[in-house]
Amino acid sequence: MHLDAQQPLVLQDYLHRRGWLDIEENISLLEKPGEGNMNYTLRVVTPNRTLIVKQSRPYVEKYPTIAAPAERAVIEGRFYQKTQAIPMLAGQMPHLLGIDEENNMLILEDLGESSDFTFLYQPCRQLSEADARALTDYLSELHTHFSTERPDPAFTNRAMRALNYEHIINYPFQEDNGFDLNSIQPGLQELARPYKRDTDLKKRVKALGDVYVGNTPTGQPGTLLHGDYYPGSWLQTADGTKIIDPEFCFYGPAEFDLGVMVAHLMMAEQPPTVLHTVLTTYQSGSGFDEQLRKQFTGIEIMRRLIGLAQLPLSLSLGTKRDLLDEAYSLLS
Ligand SMILES: Nc1ncnc2c1ncn2[C@@H]1O[C@H](COP(=O)(O)OP(=O)(O)OP(=O)(O)O)[C@@H](O)[C@H]1O
Ligand SMILES: [Mg+2]
Repeated sequence: MHLDAQQPLVLQDYLHRRGWLDIEENISLLEKPGEGNMNYTLRVVTPNRTLIVKQSRPYVEKYPTIAAPAERAVIEGRFYQKTQAIPMLAGQMPHLLGIDEENNMLILEDLGESSDFTFLYQPCRQLSEADARALTDYLSELHTHFSTERPDPAFTNRAMRALNYEHIINYPFQEDNGFDLNSIQPGLQELARPYKRDTDLKKRVKALGDVYVGNTPTGQPGTLLHGDYYPGSWLQTADGTKIIDPEFCFYGPAEFDLGVMVAHLMMAEQPPTVLHTVLTTYQSGSGFDEQLRKQFTGIEIMRRLIGLAQLPLSLSLGTKRDLLDEAYSLLS
């Protein structure tokens, strides 16, 4: 079954056969619910309700020549299954209505017309105190509930981590990766060069990559992570702030999720009060390593500024220079 907005009857038949639509319930409209790169996502409208259908394919939807792990939607679905037992977490995510492992398809509750939080990257936009707390409380709850010495093997998510490893650890630091940063912003290529040539920095980055993939002498117990905790995974809905898209989830260091979150708030030039709220609201578990959190913040800033997975930032080259400097210090 290949999800396709141009084939509503094929989808309708599929949803009937699976029992996700009632017998007499037909599709009146299919629409794109919002922007996404990795997967194919549709809003299904019937006379009774709306649903979200999301399919992952063996490639990146927006760039079909780039391969990606096909089963990522199933792993995302398992995350919803696992976390829906916890009311606080379930209340901040869409309800899972179905998983089809064979077709890498998810059926999710529709959170309604909403916008994600990538508007924060625009100048002078600020995360409210209430949202900063809600987003941080979600992480505290997730990390506390699923902290374990014996991670559930259903969430190894090795292929997605390998994909991310390329984008976080390798690609941004390759001098001849074929990506001209000056096409993003003139002067960015020159700004990035010293980092790409810094062998000490690259060693530290590689060591962090080993922690990310769990390739450390102590192995990797840790906790269940969202894995992609940035403004594109946060939705502003009529029913409050919600979290979506845990396709990069895995058992790993809590410092990763919080580090990524803080990195994005820094790139979105949020005032110190917002960062302070996040860092003081977060309830860290025993053994939480603030140094490691800072390192993950540093690498996330670097890879977003000089890597391929660019953000819709509106920062001057000078501000990017300052952020890269700061990221460099966080990584040392
Ligand atoms: N349950 C939902 N309810 C309402 N809107 C949704 C829901 N799930 C996704 N959307 C909308 O669809 C967009 C794309 O969804 P999602 O981020 O899950 O896709 P993706 O392909 O994994 O994206 P990315 O490439 O950023 O990883 C979201 O930004 C949001 O606007
Ligand atoms: Mg995604």
